[in-house]
Parts: sequence; structure tokens; C-alpha cells
Amino acid sequence: MSERGPLQERKARLGARSACDRGVVGFIDIPRSEGDTMKFHIQTWGCQMNDHDGERLSGLLIKEGFTQATTAEDADLVLLNTCSIREKAVHKVYSELGRLREDKNKRDILIGVTGCLAQQEQAALFKRAPHIDFVLGTMAIKQLPRLVEEAKAGKKRVIDTGEYPDNHLFPPEVARRRSTAKALVTIIEGCNHACTYCIVPTTRGVERNRPWQDIVSEVRGLVESGYREVELLGQNVNSFNGGCSFAELLERVSEVEGLEWLRFTTSHPMNFTKELAKVIVTNPKVAPFLHLPVQSGSNTVLRRMLREYTVEEYLERLGYLGEGRAGLGLSTDFIVGFPGESNEDFEATMRLLETVQYDSSFSFIYSPRPGTAALRLKDDIPPAVKTERLQRLQKRQTELAKVSNLRFVGSTVKARVESPGPTEAGYWMARTGDWKVVHLHVGSGRVLPFGELVDVSVTMAGPHFLGAEIA
Ligand code: SAH
Ligand code: SF4
Ligand code: F3S
Repeated sequence: MSERGPLQERKARLGARSACDRGVVGFIDIPRSEGDTMKFHIQTWGCQMNDHDGERLSGLLIKEGFTQATTAEDADLVLLNTCSIREKAVHKVYSELGRLREDKNKRDILIGVTGCLAQQEQAALFKRAPHIDFVLGTMAIKQLPRLVEEAKAGKKRVIDTGEYPDNHLFPPEVARRRSTAKALVTIIEGCNHACTYCIVPTTRGVERNRPWQDIVSEVRGLVESGYREVELLGQNVNSFNGGCSFAELLERVSEVEGLEWLRFTTSHPMNFTKELAKVIVTNPKVAPFLHLPVQSGSNTVLRRMLREYTVEEYLERLGYLGEGRAGLGLSTDFIVGFPGESNEDFEATMRLLETVQYDSSFSFIYSPRPGTAALRLKDDIPPAVKTERLQRLQKRQTELAKVSNLRFVGSTVKARVESPGPTEAGYWMARTGDWKVVHLHVGSGRVLPFGELVDVSVTMAGPHFLGAEIA
């Protein structure tokens, strides 16, 4: 683990720096009038953790007396809560910033950038987009009210990208959750792995665990307020170490009375233990679903990615699930076109797809990220080859997903009602325990209770959804 040098360095920095890191560099002339109720709008990109950070940021603003606008056009304060996992995610942010520049020329709005791009680019964002009023890093989100106050008072280019060691101890009652069906609960922030392609260790810092008692008490509060399903979140959720192991945490949280389904994301294969596999297959409250990213089916590529496991070790860990595996929905992530990926490496990935038969997978073309170790590897695969590989993988996955879904036709399963839609009136969207999307036909005008578990009869299946009726 000689690659862990930067980690030690980051840990030392985190311990040493608790003060803020603001860079206030100027003033504008006209302060806003006192007593206005300002409206805010938050646009979030990226993973569930960033989603939940958006809920935390909303809560902080509401506590300060802000109200929520329905659109960015209607808001006085627009927050872009960004992701930088791949270049495409970053393009989306800059394109929205371009749109907001025009908006800001026409009316008086404050623009703040938060999330992973903010942490990655820090003050450089002001150079690229001078109309940004403030930049808030991922490890400083509790500082939002102060930054907004400073920006409102006319200070320009307000920034705090400090690494506050207690950022993860966010007061649970403040977050304003968007979903009424499932509550997101962050249990660990940061990542101590060092995958050579990945920006997350830079943007989210080293691992910081919440104490398990805080998590259980937050879940208890959520269930008391009506939630029946909770998803525990972390960049690397199963390396949890907040006073007990992750497997023990699942057991303890599942004891909360009234909780129906407990989910978690994302797991690293190297932290996937026998103890955890046993809890997943035996505890009835743990939803029967596992997302275990593999990235590649080639040991050569895995080594270059510094994933810390071989394909054989990955399969051995899946084997910990034993017979229980059959009742689980299984999904993964793949990166194709990683520097140096040969045809043979890619074929190994295709073989792994056949061996494991995932119910679903997310696959991406490798995207070079600033400051990551993989930038030093020679990337000589033509873009057309990368695209072709991605399409082949996705096509085969679609076929496998359809086969997996067809098994359910004619059976009755439990699903949680999530929202109306998705396309026509008379349909609702629901999710099964193993994370399949259900298009539920109930007939026009019928309203289903959000968050309720219902029995549904599956009548048809496509690769991406089950068609069903209330049983
Ligand atoms: N912590 C999780 C993954 C978090 S990022 C894990 O280790 O499994 C989510 C997914 O984005 C990754 O699994 C990977 O497939 C993809 N990803 C991350 N960095 C990428 C990059 N530079 N290019 C393409 N895909 C990337
Ligand atoms: Fe990124 Fe996940 Fe690897 Fe951490 S474990 S560096 S989050 S891909
Ligand atoms: Fe994106 Fe940051 Fe999540 S890079 S995927 S928002 S941790």
C-alpha cells in the first residue's frame, strides 16, 4: 500500500485544520434591503450523498428564513451543488453557469457553487466564472449561512473550502428531505481507497465516521416522522467504523421498530466481509439488493486501477452470499476504455458479465480527472473503440436485465409507491426490495399513498422496468 502516502498526508491536514479557509477579496456597492424573504433554488448533480448534501443545504437555508423557489428563474439565490466524477458532469455545471450569467445580467441574484467541483476547483472557479458569488466546499457545508450572509452584505468571491473535521456531524433535524418514500442518511464521508481514476478522495477527503448511536437515533426519528425506508450512504459505506462494524450497524439500525426496508450504497469489494454477507441474506429488514462495483473483468486493468482485488477475489466475495444470492438483486459499475485496456482485457469484462449475470449495471467510458494517478498512464485507445466497447457491454447488459425481469411475470411482489407517472395518467412508479422499477397501472384518477408498501402482480417486463397492477 505504498500508494497510501497521499492518504496519510490528507489525514494529517484534516487533523491540523479546523479553522475556515475563506478568501474574501472585495465588495459590491449595493447591499440587499434588510428584511426581504429570499427564495433559493438548489440544483444537484451526482450521487445520493450529494443529493443528501443538497437536502442539508436546503435545511440550513430554511432555518435562516429562506423559502424554496420552484425554479431557478424564480430564485434570488441559486446554488449549484455539483459533481465532478466524469468530465460530462463538469460540462453540465459550466453550461448551467453560462445560462445563469445571462440571468444575472438581467436581475439581482446570488450564485453559489457547492459540491465536488467546488472542492476540486476552489478559487479557480471565480476565474472561469466571475459571476459566481461564493464557493463552498464539501467538507464545510455547515458554513453556508455565513457565506450567504457575507455575499448578501456585498462581499465578492466568498470562499470556504476548509476541511472541517466535524462536517459529518451534521444536525439531523435540519436536513429537508425531498423524498417522502425513502430517507437518505449519510453514515460515513470520504474515501480511504486510492483508485487511480477517481477524483472522490480529493473532493471528499479521508473517511470520517458518525458514531453508530447517532445514526440509530436519526433513523428512529425518521421512522417516527413517517419514513418506512432508509438508505445508509457513504462513498465506501461498508468500511464504516463508527464504534461497530458495518454489519453490526445494519443489525442495530434494523432493530428500529416500524422500519420496513434498510438499504445502503456504495460498497467496496475489499470491505465486503462474510459477516456483512450473512446480515444481507438473513436480516429481513435489509432490502434484498447489493450494488458491488467491479469496474473491470481483467486483472491487469484492476491492478492499474489500484482496485486492490483480482477478479477471483471479487467472485469469492460474491460467494459469501451463498444460496441467499439467488434472492438478491445484484448490480455493479464498469469503466471501459481505461488506459491500456486491450481487446483481451475487454473480453474478460464481457466474460465476467456472463459469469455473474448482474440484474443491472452502470457503465462509463473512462474520463481523465485532474490530479489523479491514471493521468500518467498512456491512453492510446481510439475514442471510437471505447464507444463500441461501451455499446457492446450495455447491449448485453440490457438483454441480461430483461431475462432477470421476465422471471417476475406472473408473480406477486411487494413494492413501495414512489411517485405518480412516469408517463401517462393512471400509472404510478414504485420500487421492489431488489430495486426494480415498477410501472403500476391503477387507472385514471386513483391516488396511491406515497411511501406505502403495496402488493403488486407483475404482468409484463422490459429490461428497465416491471409492468404491474395492484394485487
Ligand atoms: N466508491 C464507489 C464508487 C463511487 S464513484 C466504488 O469504489 O465502487 C461511482 C462510479 O463512477 C464508480 O464505480 C466508477 O465506475 C465511476 N467512475 C469513477 N471515476 C470515473 C472516471 N474517472 N471515469 C469513468 N468512470 C468513473
Ligand atoms: Fe473512488 Fe470508490 Fe475508489 Fe474511493 S473506492 S477511490 S470512491 S472508486
Ligand atoms: Fe460526484 Fe462527488 Fe458524488 S464527484 S459521484 S458528487 S462524491
